[in-house]
Amino acid sequence: MNFHVMTLFPEQINNCLKESITGRAINNGLISVNTVNIRDFSDNKYGHVDDYTYGGGAGMLMQPGPIYDAYQSIRIKLGLPKGDLMDKTSLDKPLRVLYMTPQGTPFTQKMAEDFSKEENIVILCGHYEGVDERVLERIVTDNVSIGDFVLTGGELPATIIIDAVSRLVPGVLGCDESAVYESFYDGLLEYPQYTRPVDFMGARVPDVLLSGHHKNINEWRKQKSLERTKERRPDLYEKYINEKTE
Ligand code: ADE
Repeated sequence: MNFHVMTLFPEQINNCLKESITGRAINNGLISVNTVNIRDFSDNKYGHVDDYTYGGGAGMLMQPGPIYDAYQSIRIKLGLPKGDLMDKTSLDKPLRVLYMTPQGTPFTQKMAEDFSKEENIVILCGHYEGVDERVLERIVTDNVSIGDFVLTGGELPATIIIDAVSRLVPGVLGCDESAVYESFYDGLLEYPQYTRPVDFMGARVPDVLLSGHHKNINEWRKQKSLERTKERRPDLYEKYINEKTE
């Protein structure tokens, strides 16, 4: 699976992803992260890619040209025809292009699963006050938010998307790692877990987990998952209960 990230800060993306499980997946060739520096496509000798907003208002906006050209360079790299980018429907094979924005659809595990089916994903990271609407209209297929708060740019959100999607790519997680998170797929939060010592400053591991009785352990875990979800995420709990009783 290949990620192509259009950004003004490629190092922020690369530094984040080169560590840990994503770093191992990159080294093993299971995923690739190709950062494309939008500044390389600036049309002036200063390397500027932003300008004032028509109609007034504070802040600078990213110009459409450099982003358009950066996107074209990715299409060329993938061997895709240039097409007429001014008409999205004329492209024979639309590429999935995610624009990271607080105005997007809130990112979920289900979206991560959907994105993980693509061979190539392009991610556009905005900066300053935003991006000229004309280029967004023509190349973006998905507007994605990582939550109802505003960050300084799309780089951290992009690394979050890449992390969540990568761990669904076969082989990226070892068996031990994948098992740990499986219960989330049920729509419930993870149950509490314990490791050694059995007694930590007087707080003991629940007896049932030491019993070796797998049926009881599974029941206890399911019960704790339900309790935890009800307490911390009543929205998810309602959804789970409604789906089970349908
Ligand atoms: N860029 C700035 N804030 C963001 C957010 N919450 N989600 C996605 N991209 C963003």
